[in-house]
Amino acid sequence: MKIWIPGPTYVRTEILAEQVLPMIGHRSKAMVELLERIDPPLRLAFGLGAGSTATVAVCNHSATGMMEGSLYGVGARVLSVVNGSFSKRWADIAKVLGKDVTVLELAWGQAVTEAQLAETLKSKGPFDAVTLVVCETSTGVLTPLAPVARAMKTSPSTQLFVDVVSAIAGAPIDCDANGIDFALAGVNKALALPPGITVVCASKRYMEGARAKKRASWYLDPVRTIDGHVERKTPATPVVTLYRALARQLADITSGATLPARDKGKTGAAAWTARFDKHERMRARTLQWGIGHGLDPFPAEALSSPTISCIKADGIDVAALIDALKKRGEEIGNGYDKLKGLTFRIGHMGDHSEEGLDELLFHMDEVLDSVRVKA
Ligand SMILES: Cc1ncc(COP(=O)(O)O)c(C=O)c1O
Repeated sequence: MKIWIPGPTYVRTEILAEQVLPMIGHRSKAMVELLERIDPPLRLAFGLGAGSTATVAVCNHSATGMMEGSLYGVGARVLSVVNGSFSKRWADIAKVLGKDVTVLELAWGQAVTEAQLAETLKSKGPFDAVTLVVCETSTGVLTPLAPVARAMKTSPSTQLFVDVVSAIAGAPIDCDANGIDFALAGVNKALALPPGITVVCASKRYMEGARAKKRASWYLDPVRTIDGHVERKTPATPVVTLYRALARQLADITSGATLPARDKGKTGAAAWTARFDKHERMRARTLQWGIGHGLDPFPAEALSSPTISCIKADGIDVAALIDALKKRGEEIGNGYDKLKGLTFRIGHMGDHSEEGLDELLFHMDEVLDSVRVKA
């Protein structure tokens, strides 16, 4: 089955093979070497320049763990931008932790604007942190980071926390340029790895603030986790198999090995940019296909994510569409939560190719008439 759901996504055989190598001890020299291979390309994934003072690390749990863990390192007043299911999850987690949460609620399909964020920071602030999901997997909205960064400048003491779960390795994050204090991402979306670990990037300001706080968690303590990574002593036993897969994937992306033929020879930051460009083309191709069939994107085209297209299923039986495609060996995603049956989602992320996308769209062409709802 070719898996086009919005994560977990297709994982290359080379990556799967990394996970069946003989085990190593997690306090061994081999483990230190493994961790050392991860950091330089991981810094590229978060868009950090040579002089950056931010720290990257790997955590032993899925992304939700650091949606919680990150909040242990910051004060009580949290502004959560909510425009879908995962941004709501972050607000809910903050509430469970007893934070004083203000929700900036937007309609699903919308992204916060610079004016909305600046106005809320001014009228409802001051806040210790803003939480924002950059790519809302539930709606296919990618919130542009530059306007968010400009709005955050109106409240310099407020830290910016971003979930880049389905954005990292599919779109530029540029943590330093966008003034991001804490970024977190699972690896099973555009990084195209099996699920289970999370990568993070923390600013110097975040780390200094977090160190000074009483943090009511051991396993999810961001400082213990990040310091442990930096000192090459993970606090608990790491998922060595997934760390190996991550190291291999980051190396392959950075060397250009995962790029299409047109981009061969590109390495380093240029290879990451070429990967982002591939996803932009896949987004354009998918939306063009939908519009050609009278099926509009759920978010405005300008906000549609390069990694996930969420398409309105007007006149289409989504469950029947998914079943018909499965019979042809292709799997796409239904709408999420309240959008189930009203939209469908195609995760053109990770190591999926443009040729593969053309094949999927060919099959969708073939089955579409049979899954239209009869009047
Ligand atoms: C944007 C976003 N944030 C957070 C999560 C939660 O990740 P996990 O369930 O792997 O902890 C997901 C999962 O799909 C997601 O898409």
